[in-house]
Amino acid sequence: MSRTVLHLGAAYYPEHWPEERWPEDIRLMREAGLSVVRMGEFAWSSLEPASGEFRFDWLERAITLLEEAGILTVLGTPTAAPPAWLTQAYPEIFAVDEYGRRVQHGNRCHYCVNAPAFHAAAARIVGAMAQRFGKHPNVIGWQLDNEYNRVCYCDRCRRLFQDYLACKYGTLEALNERWTTAYWSQTYSGWEQIPIPIGGHNPGLMLEFKRFVTESYRKFQRLQLEALRPHLRPGVWVTHNFMGWYNGYDHYAMSEELDLASWDWYVGSGHNDYLNSGAAHELVRGFKRRSFWVMETQPGCVNWSAINNALNRGEARAMAWHAVTHGAEAVLYWQWRAALNGQEQYHGTIVDQSGQPRPFYEEVRRLGEEFARLAPLFEGSAPAPARVAILHCYESRWAVEWQPHHRDFDYVAHLLHYYRPIAARNIPVDIISADAPLQGYKVVIAPALLIMTGTRVEELKSFVARGNRLILTPRCAMKDEYNALLPARQPGPLAELAGVEVEDYYALDEPVPVKGNWFSGVSRLWAERLKKIEQTYTTPIAHYGPSNGWLDGQIAIAVNVWRTGLVYYVGAYLDDAAQQAFINRVLLMAGIRPELETPPGVEMRKLVKAEGGQEIFVIINHVNGEQTVHLPWPAREHLSGFTIKGEVRLAPYGVIVLTRADTT
Ligand code: GLA
Ligand code: ZN
Repeated sequence: MSRTVLHLGAAYYPEHWPEERWPEDIRLMREAGLSVVRMGEFAWSSLEPASGEFRFDWLERAITLLEEAGILTVLGTPTAAPPAWLTQAYPEIFAVDEYGRRVQHGNRCHYCVNAPAFHAAAARIVGAMAQRFGKHPNVIGWQLDNEYNRVCYCDRCRRLFQDYLACKYGTLEALNERWTTAYWSQTYSGWEQIPIPIGGHNPGLMLEFKRFVTESYRKFQRLQLEALRPHLRPGVWVTHNFMGWYNGYDHYAMSEELDLASWDWYVGSGHNDYLNSGAAHELVRGFKRRSFWVMETQPGCVNWSAINNALNRGEARAMAWHAVTHGAEAVLYWQWRAALNGQEQYHGTIVDQSGQPRPFYEEVRRLGEEFARLAPLFEGSAPAPARVAILHCYESRWAVEWQPHHRDFDYVAHLLHYYRPIAARNIPVDIISADAPLQGYKVVIAPALLIMTGTRVEELKSFVARGNRLILTPRCAMKDEYNALLPARQPGPLAELAGVEVEDYYALDEPVPVKGNWFSGVSRLWAERLKKIEQTYTTPIAHYGPSNGWLDGQIAIAVNVWRTGLVYYVGAYLDDAAQQAFINRVLLMAGIRPELETPPGVEMRKLVKAEGGQEIFVIINHVNGEQTVHLPWPAREHLSGFTIKGEVRLAPYGVIVLTRADTT
């Protein structure tokens, strides 16, 4: 049971059940092949029923029972659910919403992240848990809190925000200038005048408030890390379960001090779109640029969506393998069994309200068996290194979200518009911070990288100068780090690289025809009119057709030779077919080809071992229907044990795990 990969698990809340029931739960877990459970993340009132009275014995007994069954434990710190005795004693712990209302007890994350009484109580319970369980041989990792998400508007938070601004800007003159506060007489003559933004506000203020929220959570997280880390035995990791594309704070900053990133993956209504979920996995893998955990995922259905339909039979198994191939070390279902009362009675579980396995249990058991059997094969493997990277920036994202200029211009959708046509061809892509180093990539895409800083410009220049390819897209390099417009045409300091400047940008009420060298289609939502800069090696590769007059016949996409590299500026937001053709061409010219082409809905992922050992190919049919793929080489299929080649049939949601038979 010492494996580090292909963990299968569930969230388990023994505190909801009489202790006599635990052995039966654990027997069923063991039979299902679970290798890990997460416990404790909302158990504060059971762990500390009154101030300073710790009750850890029950948790220790649960950990021991699991250990005896060969199941490892991840412990959550319970701070997302401050108990009633605490909020009663210190009502100032309750967060205040944007309308000035204190939140109620009885939900979760009802805390003000900056409340000193909360900090003290959190540090105390985390420290006590760390002392008791930090060296426990069966506790392999910790999750801090649960899905940080609350924003507090209390007076204390406002004062701290003002302090943060004073510290950052030094003088009010500097702040007033950066935010152009003369606009609408916003000029501040005292720090205490500055509000927490509610709704649309000054863009500079809004961006700083997001940074302040990030900073507040960072401090809260650090306080827990400091209480925890000194007591952990070597090798025990600390994580937080993020929520994929959730935009509440800068996840790169939040991940810095964690050992591992993890995330909670829910489909909600409908079915899994593997290209979208693949991007979310890449996003989370990009937080720490290493393997991650899927700390929660739905066993069948959720309880909070418009239609809480179940995943189709086999779909969750395909999803679990998909997560693994994108770098997940573990997949944990939320949750094992629904509590008889409490807010989430109807959420999907593995065991039903009667304590008996649900039909879904069979799927878990199958995965449990497969994961256990194939763990040695996957040990030490990681997704094959990507040659393509997409840059992601929370600040640019917020700035676009606050002022989309077109209702349907969505930052993440625009990023996915570049991710999907590449991933659909089984070409590995990383999604990384716009501030990450770009070594090792041949193609870098900067979708709507609105906010441009000196360091980013330098990194992008040296990337292109090394003979690589850069794609800039609409809205790139328009603003500075104060969310102020740059006093230059887009792409501002990158114009020299791009060889073009944006003469004007247009939100589109109707699609505009675009004719390119390699495609013809339309631009939708957005169009930028490009103009060649004198004395550059720029070639227009697409033009707009007739539309609003301003765009007619103008340049839509151009490519520039800069040093030994190429820079594309894409002013159009192409339709899907045109986008696929454009991307195909860029990749082809960069010498990036898929290792294996598969029909739509079928994914092929390659994993490699660091020492250059065996390559693993995983092919997943994400479609509820049979599919055929063509294998160019004979392979050993590890789930069935057969050797296969040529035409291979995949069942609906079928998965095959291959190593080449001709190279070993
Ligand atoms: C979140 C939480 C869990 C649970 C699930 C239900 O991800 O972290 O505690 O509420 O949602 O989908
Ligand atoms: Zn507050």
